[in-house]
Amino acid sequence: MEFFLDTASLEDIKLYKTLGLVDGVTTNPALLAKEGQDPLEQVRKIASMVSGPISVEVTYTESDKMVKHAIRISKLADNVVIKIPASTAGLAAACVLKEKGIKLNVTLIFHPSQAIPFIKLGADYVSLFVGRVEDFGLSNKDAIGQIRESIDMMQSPTKLLAASIRNPEYLLEAVNAGSDALTVPPSCWEKVYNNPIFQLGEKEFLESWNQLPAALRKNYETY
Ligand code: E4P
Repeated sequence: MEFFLDTASLEDIKLYKTLGLVDGVTTNPALLAKEGQDPLEQVRKIASMVSGPISVEVTYTESDKMVKHAIRISKLADNVVIKIPASTAGLAAACVLKEKGIKLNVTLIFHPSQAIPFIKLGADYVSLFVGRVEDFGLSNKDAIGQIRESIDMMQSPTKLLAASIRNPEYLLEAVNAGSDALTVPPSCWEKVYNNPIFQLGEKEFLESWNQLPAALRKNYETY
């Protein structure tokens, strides 16, 4: 299973590489804008830090413009994967880009049906947005398994990428429900480890340990 980091921050990538959590990176226009840098340079820098796939999104909604943009940005680095929105225009663009051998990550999938034509086409990744529908009071967790089933039924090489993973519950669901890859933002990993029960447990163990006379602790600590 591939673990991508959902960020355009070089500092985050550097940190999470040391944690073994950067098999690749997914960016989007909002993440690149957040960094306030030249997006082309930022993508080049990311691609030089990570050997796995780096998803970079087109910023057009019309098919012909998507194709032209995708061809240009695909040349930024060998490991760039082009993110195409899961719209009709996106599908038309994907058909052309697939023919040209450009790697594709189909983004903004909210309902499994959106993924079907791209699975048929054999796009490299389909990104199901699990968390974002929460903003509308909905849950998209079941869709992970549904898309898994579609890919298997259609015997497609497309990989299921669980995206918009905003909390530990979605992270677990993405891993266990059949994703081939998931992209997790640093904010979600922070939630996983800023768990107050874990923190209290760690604190209590060390407080108890410190009750032991220092001379006795020393042997163990310097062993
Ligand atoms: C996926 O590739 C997107 O960049 C990302 O997962 C979107 O997450 P969000 O819906 O939390 O913004």
